[in-house]
Formats: sequence, C-alpha cells, structure tokens
Amino acid sequence: MDYLKLMQERHSVRKYLDKAIEPEKAAELEAYIAELNEKYDMSLRLVQGEDVFDHLILGYGMIKGCNNYIYVAGKDDENLDERAGYVGELVVLKAQDMGLNTCWVGGFFKKKRVEYTHPEGHRFVLVIAIGYGENAGTPSKTKTFDEVSLSKDVPEWYRNGIEAVLLAPSAINQKKWKFELIGEDKVRVTTAKGPFATTDVGIAKCHFELGAGKTVLFGE
Ligand SMILES: Cc1cc2nc3c(=O)[nH]c(=O)nc-3n(C[C@H](O)[C@H](O)[C@H](O)COP(=O)(O)O)c2cc1C
Repeated sequence: MDYLKLMQERHSVRKYLDKAIEPEKAAELEAYIAELNEKYDMSLRLVQGEDVFDHLILGYGMIKGCNNYIYVAGKDDENLDERAGYVGELVVLKAQDMGLNTCWVGGFFKKKRVEYTHPEGHRFVLVIAIGYGENAGTPSKTKTFDEVSLSKDVPEWYRNGIEAVLLAPSAINQKKWKFELIGEDKVRVTTAKGPFATTDVGIAKCHFELGAGKTVLFGE
C-alpha cells in the first residue's frame, strides 16, 4: 500500500450514495478488522444497513445517507481511547484503499440506535461512518511541520512521519498533538486538552509510523 497517497486522498466524507458495500469487499474488511481485534485487544465491527447518524443538525457533524458504520470498542484499559484511534485509522486507510469513504464520528450519531455488543470488560468509544461518498471530500486546513514538531533538526524518517501526521484526521480538526524526538529514536507525543484529543493522538501515531516506514518507539 502507498500509505502517503492514501492519506493524501482521504478526506472526511459526510454525504453518501445509497449504494451497499459489495459482499466481497465487506468480507475483506471484516477479515482485516478481525486481525486487528486479535492483535490489539479490540472489538471493532462493521455494521451494515443501519443509519445511526443525526439528521437534525445542519452543518458540521451531519452525516447524510450513510447506512453503515464501524463500531469502535476495545478492552477497557487506560490506553483504550488512544488505541481506538490507532486501530480505527488503520481500518480507515484500508477502506480508502478499497475505494470506500469514511468519517470518524464522535458526537453526531443516535447513541440509542447503536447496537452495543462487545465482550465483557470492553468499552465503546465512537463510530466511523463508511460507504460510498457522493464525492471524495475536500482537503481540510492543515498545520506546518514547525507547528506540530518541537524538534527541528531531525532525521528523514522522523520528517516523513510528521508529513504523514499533517494529513491525519482529528476531532473538529483540532490537531492539538505535538511531536518531539528524544535521543536518537524515541518519539514523545503530547496533546493539549480537547474533545477526543487522546483518540486523535492514536490516529496521529498511526500516521507517523506509516509515514516513517518503521515501528516507532513512542515514550516519555
Ligand atoms: C475522533 C474524531 C471525532 C470526529 N467526530 C466528528 C463528528 O462527530 N462529526 C463530523 O462531522 N466529523 C467528525 N470528525 C471528523 C473531523 O471533523 C475531520 O477529521 C477534520 O475536520 C479534518 O478533516 P479531514 O478528515 O477531511 O482531514 C471527527 C474526527 C475525529 C478524528
């Protein structure tokens, strides 16, 4: 997969066509989700034929015509909100690679209509709208390397990581994360407070690692 290209092409899509996901595509996505659930102690699920999105609010947050979502839940430990971001974004990029569109949705969905089925000890975090968009969406406002990285004189892998981070989705496009290179190869990520800011960190770490092209040692 050319991850940088996928990241450049991915935008949040909020208007969807009335077109189901083909069974073979759904099966491929489900197989990938099952792999990730096993590896990261998560319980994500693709739900099809269910519109759980709010239609009353006009403007930001409204998802129109989407009949599918990815239910994001996982083992309820202190790392879950971040892991939800990391694992969910892997699914988002896989969906993008399969020609599907997505939008992370933390707030504007009908919570009562979501089917809360997950193993005991797991917790639900949020959903991701998924399907065929009316269009591919448009690029949103991004930040610069200097705004996001506290380290300036950095190796190429780190610079490539930040380039990918700049393309990461974040709640209300807050992009509150800061990256810093500690020593030769450790990366520290911090964030200011904000809605779903910890999940944003997980998404950004996912982009960073894929951009850097290696497993990154994240730490204090
Ligand atoms: C954790 C999280 C929660 C989000 N919640 C919503 C939401 O409730 N409604 C919505 O329309 N967009 C939501 N978004 C999408 C962001 O608004 C979007 O990622 C951001 O504006 C950047 O745009 P882009 O994804 O097209 O790059 C969410 C994104 C993230 C990462």
